[in-house]
Amino acid sequence: RFAQRAGLSVGHLRISAVTTSKYLVPNWLGSFCRQFPEIEPEFNIGNRAEIIQRLKANMDDLYIFSHLPKELDIHATPITDNPLVLIAPKGHHLTTCTNLSWEHVRKERFLIREKGSGTRHAVEAFFNMYGAPLMRPLGIASNEAIKESVVAGLGVAIISRHALSHMAPGNLVELNVKEFPIPSTWYLVTPKGKAMSPVTQAFSTHVDAMLGCK
Ligand code: PGA
Repeated sequence: RFAQRAGLSVGHLRISAVTTSKYLVPNWLGSFCRQFPEIEPEFNIGNRAEIIQRLKANMDDLYIFSHLPKELDIHATPITDNPLVLIAPKGHHLTTCTNLSWEHVRKERFLIREKGSGTRHAVEAFFNMYGAPLMRPLGIASNEAIKESVVAGLGVAIISRHALSHMAPGNLVELNVKEFPIPSTWYLVTPKGKAMSPVTQAFSTHVDAMLGCK
């Protein structure tokens, strides 16, 4: 058994991850724990600002971010893409348009995550890059609630494509807009200088192997 080989009576693995990664991490953790049932995982979820606080306080073994806290001294390993896509409800007038560009969509009402969210940070950076203000943005502090609100016709949203994986097909449409998806990347993060425990190292290798298999 891994934990015994590693000289550990119990293999703890504390992971803190930003909310959007919840569509990925359980799958990695599930297969890891099936392989090493003696591992005792703890999986904490929060928005980017909350996970940065945990990282600063050195509370966990491993952190998962998409938008890295560049101000901190960290070691970050890129693991897979996190494309941010523009979604609208089925039947929205833009869903039948072709050759859409940013100009056609920027005046829509955007539903955006709460302050402290990495996704919101990316959306604001995107609007700044195009020098356009967000028109009457509606803040909603959850990816799930944003998807439901888009389906209900409250507006459009920019969201990780991973957050759409378990949606009933057809309710939401990914708009085909020239400037999208906004590229970003998932990273495994540890504080620089903090040695990875054998269990953490094994999990990181496991994630690599899973993603390499795709
Ligand atoms: P969020 O973070 O869940 O806080 O939006 C995602 C990210 O860091 O990109």
